[in-house]
Amino acid sequence: MVTGGSGFIGSNFIRFLLEKSDFEGRIINIDKLTYAGNPENLEDIAKEYGGRYIFEKVDICDQDSLHRVFDDYRINVICHFAAESHVDRSIKGPADFIQTNIVGTFNLLELARSNQDRFILFHHISTDEVYGSLGKDGYFTETTPYRPNSPYSASKAASDHLVRAYHKTYNLPTTISNCSNNYGPYQFPEKLIPLIILNARERNPLPLYGDGRNVRDWLYVEDHCKAVWTIMSKGRLGETYNVGGETEMENIRIVEMLCDIIDEMTGSSDKRSRRELITFVKDRPGHDRRYAIDFTKLREEMNWTPEESLESGLRKTVQWYLDHQGWLERVRTGEYRRWIEEHYES
Ligand code: NAD
Ligand code: TYD
Repeated sequence: MVTGGSGFIGSNFIRFLLEKSDFEGRIINIDKLTYAGNPENLEDIAKEYGGRYIFEKVDICDQDSLHRVFDDYRINVICHFAAESHVDRSIKGPADFIQTNIVGTFNLLELARSNQDRFILFHHISTDEVYGSLGKDGYFTETTPYRPNSPYSASKAASDHLVRAYHKTYNLPTTISNCSNNYGPYQFPEKLIPLIILNARERNPLPLYGDGRNVRDWLYVEDHCKAVWTIMSKGRLGETYNVGGETEMENIRIVEMLCDIIDEMTGSSDKRSRRELITFVKDRPGHDRRYAIDFTKLREEMNWTPEESLESGLRKTVQWYLDHQGWLERVRTGEYRRWIEEHYES
């Protein structure tokens, strides 16, 4: 069972498993289809892998439906992506984050526990944001104390603790991965990289929070998918693994790189540089200054390392968005437009 398989990373993961990995089983994708879930992300996969890919519209907070799916398909492995995932939304309204990220994870753990005789693995997808913010130096390791600063990261931290506790207390077979910022195809255009691509293409302002010098570590989504599958296949039960891209970058630099790539790809480098569209806006409350990941454990135990460079990953991503105008237009209707208007008006 993959939860949240119609969102950004989940849909890339299902595509990766079926098209590029040694996985031979069947995938049941359960997803509530919130604003971030889009069945279109896997339309071709559903056609091509009909027998091995099944979609069920289910909310992980709805215990009855979860029970039904769990029994109908005799689920024995869960890869848990489903979450409310956007920090800015969690600041405006944390309630859904508490329900889905904490209570929803609890529901899944309980279900796994009550079927423990046949249960093989609960892999929980989490974020480096649970560790809080770094100063100029240092890296997050698996033993860095948790210090979440946003309602989003606090809800993910809570879910990580529940997964850990279910392993320690009930011996549930679990693994956890804490990953840095992902980018790539199918990312909802509220997150920095697709938002900037979209605005830059249309020559709209490019909003940078605060001084634009906050640092994130970026990982191409397919590298994350490979890491998850590696951990699911070879990870030690009860362990946590950090996943990162070794590409620390100030936000302003990422935005400049995107501007230059789009200028070049759209053949408009003779016109005014899109860098001129960069606009500094009010900072995000509690904005973490720097994230940086030490993934030595994953590298040494399982020989995983990111394959995509930032430059080539950004190029692929920009190209994907330029080639998928229809997808963008469809996800930009309704709820998305309302959010962007509300968010940037206040
Ligand atoms: P996303 O917002 O694109 O997708 C989330 C998916 O979960 C959507 O399909 C949504 O419909 C589904 N969902 C939400 N609430 C649900 C519910 N109650 N029941 C069932 N489905 C529900 O998120 P993403 O960026 O793909 O992130 C996936 C996971 O990876 C999350 O757990 C997130 O915390 C984690 N993560 C994300 C990043 C990143 O950079 N995006 C980095 C590290 C970890
Ligand atoms: P985001 O993509 O929301 O990921 P996260 O907050 O989970 O790291 O933001 C990445 C960085 O970009 C973060 O430092 C906030 C910043 N940011 C902007 O400067 N402007 C924006 O419009 C957005 C969405 C983010």
